[in-house]
Amino acid sequence: MKWVVWVGSVRKGSYNAAVARALRALAPADVEIEILPSVAALPIYDADIQAEGMPEAVTALGATIGAADGLVIVTPEYNYSIPGGLKNAIDWVSRLKDQPFKGKPILLQSASMGVLGGARAQYHLRQVFVFLDGRLMNVPEVMVPTAHKKMGEDGELNDAPTRDFIAKQLEAFKAFVTAR
Ligand code: FNR
Repeated sequence: MKWVVWVGSVRKGSYNAAVARALRALAPADVEIEILPSVAALPIYDADIQAEGMPEAVTALGATIGAADGLVIVTPEYNYSIPGGLKNAIDWVSRLKDQPFKGKPILLQSASMGVLGGARAQYHLRQVFVFLDGRLMNVPEVMVPTAHKKMGEDGELNDAPTRDFIAKQLEAFKAFVTAR
């Protein structure tokens, strides 16, 4: 099966991007992982742009998400909520005729420098996906608190307990996707 991974941060040294990069090694062996293009590739949502024709980047993104067996979102929390760039990307894709979030198995992960690990962004995402009728896995949850302390000098996620609980969550997600 194939999962696509969306990262909510666009900065080069992003801890969330490091978590996303770790997923290939942590996912069950028969799961193919593809990291989606940066959310920074999209303009700010504008119904006038949409009226002139859906941007190709949005159509392509929607097709990739639609064809995947699962969507994993790995995001920081900005001001207790969803980073604007990620919300913007969700808003664009939600305007596609066959919006691909409907019924899609979706898994949330977050990393932050704070002690709650971005939990509040996850709960705001859950609210958004109620309207879009996504099929979100509830538990186990993965929040990576004090993420800056869990990276190696190479900038990769090297904290063994964190890697272990992410692997367990991914195993559960595979069962969740299969139980569809
Ligand atoms: C933050 N950060 C943050 N952290 C947190 O735990 N709760 C929060 O509400 C916020 N709010 C917030 C707002 C803005 C605008 C920024 C730039 C940052 C800190 C955040 O966790 C930290 O910058 C992470 O390193 C961001 O994730 P990436 O870019 O490393 O993936």
